[in-house]
Amino acid sequence: MDREIGMKVLIVGSGGREHALAWKIAQSPRVERVLAAPGSDAMGECADCFPDVSVGDFDAVAELARREGVDLVVVGPEDPLADGIADRLRKAGIATFGPSGAAAQLEGSKAFAKAFMARHGIPTAAFEVFDELASARSHVAALPKPGFCVVKADGLAAGKGVAVCDDLAAAEQALEEMMGDRRFGDAGARVVIEERLDVPGAQEASYYAITDGEHIVTLAEAQDHKRALDGDRGENTGGMGAYSPAPVVTPEVERRILREVVEPTIAGMAEDGSPFVGVLFVGLMIDIEGGVKVIEFNVRFGDPETQALMVRLQSDLVPLLHGAATGQLDPDAPECQTVWGEASVCIAQASGGYPRSYEKGKPITGLDVAAKEEGVVIFHAGTKRAADGVFTTNGGRVLGITALGASVAEARSRAYAAADQIEFEGRQMRRDIADRAL
Ligand code: AMP
Ligand code: GLY
Repeated sequence: MDREIGMKVLIVGSGGREHALAWKIAQSPRVERVLAAPGSDAMGECADCFPDVSVGDFDAVAELARREGVDLVVVGPEDPLADGIADRLRKAGIATFGPSGAAAQLEGSKAFAKAFMARHGIPTAAFEVFDELASARSHVAALPKPGFCVVKADGLAAGKGVAVCDDLAAAEQALEEMMGDRRFGDAGARVVIEERLDVPGAQEASYYAITDGEHIVTLAEAQDHKRALDGDRGENTGGMGAYSPAPVVTPEVERRILREVVEPTIAGMAEDGSPFVGVLFVGLMIDIEGGVKVIEFNVRFGDPETQALMVRLQSDLVPLLHGAATGQLDPDAPECQTVWGEASVCIAQASGGYPRSYEKGKPITGLDVAAKEEGVVIFHAGTKRAADGVFTTNGGRVLGITALGASVAEARSRAYAAADQIEFEGRQMRRDIADRAL
């Protein structure tokens, strides 16, 4: 593996997930230099950032990779993947961690993902697809419990295009916003309406596996908190916190996830002619008997789950990323054996108003003190360093305060101890992250 020594790795993206990836990759003994496009002021501490190279400008990313002699590109967000960044980079001969545009449809189109699962016998909620508001409305009205369902925008909506509805009024409002008002633009022109899986006792978890399209190395599970408010109330967000491991994923449940979901998905994508390269992130509902159903597929690392996973991962991530990107992932190789710390928790702090509109530019205090708490690493999701050196808010989600501990309880108390030192105007933070695991 000598050719892996002295590697230059380019990360595409600028959020909390990319900060965590850059932080982890920079610690690899195989890596000489980490680059980021565009990166962020905070990522500047572990990567050389190229703020003029935007995530959507594939030619500029390819040119940067070529010019700087990059050995591996790791793509963070879903939008460029769905738009074909990995195809563009591979065509230029650049090893890329992330699926082709065709394979990224697993996340880019919920209707595609549902049809794929139906075709390959992968367990998921019953569903129907609609292109017209009137027929979608009639469908929700005719349900056994009218409106009791989940309405999903077909396309990408930054994790916000899902409405879990209790009654007809909620379902009609969701349909009106998505299909009528186009709250999520064209992503909502088509919707999937599905059966609710959150029956009493069921729990969500997400599971991560890295693949070169054929071979699989499993990472670990994590649990996200999608709703804005404590007690899982309020609107869906990109994620307000995460923890790992999730006790609901017992060894038996993990075996079922692999056998019933991960393996048939990787095999099915290859069979369909779109082998999946990268990290498959499966959102799952696990019922009281340990039965698993897919809620959604994502084709990249989760945010903020990655922050929790990266502080837990003790072994080197780079051989996995490089092995997948080059089609040479060897699950039996010593460098592909993963080693995990006990437990981690990530708490997101967001701007007031998120996931709807919010203001930017609020000065953040307490970051230095908070970073001194034991086991704590602070990842920046949306910040900017002002001329005087002070970080200010610059996004919906602002920070991911992440801690490692000997148990979820310890990681949680460390993370909150740090989070409580940080202030900015309008700061939103859930108080109950990881409570479910205690
Ligand atoms: P998604 O973006 O598809 O992961 O959906 C966001 C969130 O909505 C999930 O994390 C679940 O909490 C919830 N959700 C999605 N689909 C369902 C479903 N079929 N039943 C119950 N809850 C769901
Ligand atoms: N936290 C959920 C996601 O990254 O989609």
